[in-house]
Amino acid sequence: MPERHILLIESDAAAAAYLANLLRQAGYAVSTAPGGKEGLIEAWRGRPDMMIVTAELPDLGGLEVVRKLRGDARTNKAKVIILSTRSYPQDILAGVQAGADEYIVKRPGADGELLERVRALLPRGVVEPAAAPEPARPLARLVSFLSAKGGTGTSSLCVNVAQVVAQQAPAKRLAVVDLVLPVGSLHYIVGVDTPDRHIVAATRLEPRHLTPERLQPLLTRREEWGFDLLPGAPDPEVAQELRVERLEAVFAALRQMYDLVFVDFGRALSRVSLPFIRQSAKVFVITSPDAATVALTKAVLNYLDLQDVRRHRLQLVLNRAVGLEGLSRPEMERELGFAISALIPHMGSHFSLANNQHQPVSRKFASETVPFTLQNVALTLLEQLNQQADDAAPVSA
Ligand SMILES: Nc1ncnc2c1ncn2[C@@H]1O[C@H](COP(=O)(O)OP(=O)(O)OP(=O)(O)O)[C@@H](O)[C@H]1O
Ligand SMILES: [Mg+2]
Repeated sequence: MPERHILLIESDAAAAAYLANLLRQAGYAVSTAPGGKEGLIEAWRGRPDMMIVTAELPDLGGLEVVRKLRGDARTNKAKVIILSTRSYPQDILAGVQAGADEYIVKRPGADGELLERVRALLPRGVVEPAAAPEPARPLARLVSFLSAKGGTGTSSLCVNVAQVVAQQAPAKRLAVVDLVLPVGSLHYIVGVDTPDRHIVAATRLEPRHLTPERLQPLLTRREEWGFDLLPGAPDPEVAQELRVERLEAVFAALRQMYDLVFVDFGRALSRVSLPFIRQSAKVFVITSPDAATVALTKAVLNYLDLQDVRRHRLQLVLNRAVGLEGLSRPEMERELGFAISALIPHMGSHFSLANNQHQPVSRKFASETVPFTLQNVALTLLEQLNQQADDAAPVSA
C-alpha cells in the first residue's frame, strides 16, 4: 500500500522536527521545507498528498503559499492545512478563502488536533481514486420559519423549536440558518459573537469552494442549544454584499452536512427566500391574533398556495408574542381557512429574558407551559418528517 506523503512547510526547525516525527509515527512519509519559496518548489516537484503550511513564514506569507498551491494544477487537488498562531475569525476565514481545507490554531493540544485532521483528510493506506465511495446519505430536510408581520416571534420560535428538536433527536445533526435581511437576530438570541462568520461570508466563497469543509468554519456550535448556527448579516451594509445567486450552493453544501436545516426567513417572502421555502419539507408560518397580522397572514397563505407550496407542508402556529387580545382561535381558523397546529401562550417578559440571556426557553423556564408546547411541536415535526416522503420541489424549480 503506497505511503501518503505530507510536506511540512515550517520555518521553526524545532517545531518542524517535532511535527515531522509525530506524523511519521502515525505512518506518513514526511518531507519538510523551511520557507515558502522552498516549500512551493518542493510541492510542485514532489506532488505530496498534503501540505501543512505555517502561516508565519519569513519569506512568503502562508496565505500566499496556499493561494499559489491552489492556483497550480500540480498541487490544486492536494489537501492543505494551515497552522497559525492567529485565532481571530477573520484570520480563519482568510485561510479558508485562500483555499485551505483546515485551519488549526497553534495552542496547547494543537498537535493532537492536527493529527486528527490529517487522519480525516488523508486516511492511511487508502488511495484516493480507489477509495470506496461513501455510502449515500440522504440530504438534510429544510424546515422554514416565516411570518407575515414583524415581531411575531418567528426568530424566537425558530431557534427554540430547533433546540427542543435537537434535544429530542440527539443523533440528528442540526443547523440553523438566519436569512433575515438586512440584519439577522439569531446570533444574539443564541449568544454567538462571530462578526465575520455569517451567511454573507458563506456567499463570498466561490461556488467551487463551497464545500462542506469550507463552509463548516462559518458555523458556530453552542452546546446548550444543540445545533450549529450560520448567523445572518450583522448589519445592513454587509447584507448588501449577499450574493443571492450563491445561496443555492450554500444550501446544497449545508444539506450534505446535516440531517435537518432550520431557516429563519422572517417576513421576507421574496425571490430570495421562495426557492428555499418551496423545497422545505416543513414551513412554519407564525402568526398572532391581532386583526392586521391575521389579514397579512391570509395573504401569505394564499400566495404560498399559488406558488404550489403544498398545504400539508405548512404549519400554522399562533404565537401570543404580545399580551393583547385579538381574534379567538376558531375565528382565526375561519378567517384563514386553515387549522392552527399549535398555540404558544404569552410568556410575559420571560421570553425576552431568556433571549437576552441567550438561553433556550425550555431550559430557563422549564416548568412553564411554553416548553411543553414547544416539545409537542418538536415531536410532531419529527414524526411528520419521518412519515412524509421528501416531495419538496427542487431548489431550481
Ligand atoms: N410567546 C411569547 N411570549 C412573550 N414574548 C414573546 C413570545 N414570543 C416572542 N416573544 C418576544 O417578542 C419579541 C419579538 O420576537 P422575535 O424577535 O422572535 O420576533 P420576529 O418575528 O423574529 O421579529 P422580527 O420581525 O424583528 O424579526 C421578542 O422580544 C420575544 O422575546
Ligand atoms: Mg426575527
